[in-house]
Amino acid sequence: MNNDFPIGVFDSGVGGLSVLKHLVRIMPNERYIYLGDTARVPYGNKSPETVQQYSQQCAQFLLSHQVKVVIIACNTASAVALEAVRQISPVPVIGVIQPSAEAALRATKNGTIGIIGTRATVGSNAYAHEIQTLTTTEHINVVGQACPLFVPLAEEGWIAHPATRAIAEEYMKPLKAENVDTLVLGCTHYPLLTETLQLAMPGVTLIDPGEHAAEVTRRVLTTKHALAHTQEIPSTRIDYYVTDIPATFPQVAKQFLGFDVPMPLLVSIEQLGRL
Ligand code: DGL
Repeated sequence: MNNDFPIGVFDSGVGGLSVLKHLVRIMPNERYIYLGDTARVPYGNKSPETVQQYSQQCAQFLLSHQVKVVIIACNTASAVALEAVRQISPVPVIGVIQPSAEAALRATKNGTIGIIGTRATVGSNAYAHEIQTLTTTEHINVVGQACPLFVPLAEEGWIAHPATRAIAEEYMKPLKAENVDTLVLGCTHYPLLTETLQLAMPGVTLIDPGEHAAEVTRRVLTTKHALAHTQEIPSTRIDYYVTDIPATFPQVAKQFLGFDVPMPLLVSIEQLGRL
């Protein structure tokens, strides 16, 4: 593994920029390649087989750019395709599930953890499995709730809109009934709704997967002595690729990343399929 190789990040679309944001924040000296499969988004309502095939293609694209690590920013892909991607990757593959499960276990006091995500993520029970694998405590209760309406609301920029608040109240009802004290925002888009979710769930600790996946990535690269050689001036360089360029890309991307994003390069899904 060469220190100067880039870090590869992929997602079903633009949402994964919420993970890239944390990577760039804690490792500003790295180079990054981001691939958003915008032509085939959403992954959250597709079958595991389809998400596995798409994820392998996205990972293969990053590997063809000699990345030193592959980050699966998408919760849905992390939930159902982590093993499929690991099978084809000669470099470490980091998903968002394990880092968030570890963080949730550290945070919970009453042992009741809520998971919100796409239907595919919640239906996979990947978070519950991971949490049970990581703990010897029998009294951990994991409550899942799919919140499919949050993705379009976040992309629309309706972050604190009354409609979003009302929908959040509705989705949070079963989690409140179970008295969750920790809530994993298990979808790339949900960190954008933090304020609204915190209002709906006062006193509950919210877990942002991007933050914890970024920490784990830094740990893995540190252990492998593969961090970029430190430079005095941060020189983050990010190459953005997408499989389709939606007209709204610049605005939506900026919402997720917090800074202006240049026009991405296009890679067709035919190209991805040929890799
Ligand atoms: N990136 C997806 C996730 O984190 C959300 C969008 C989609 O359904 O593809 O689960």
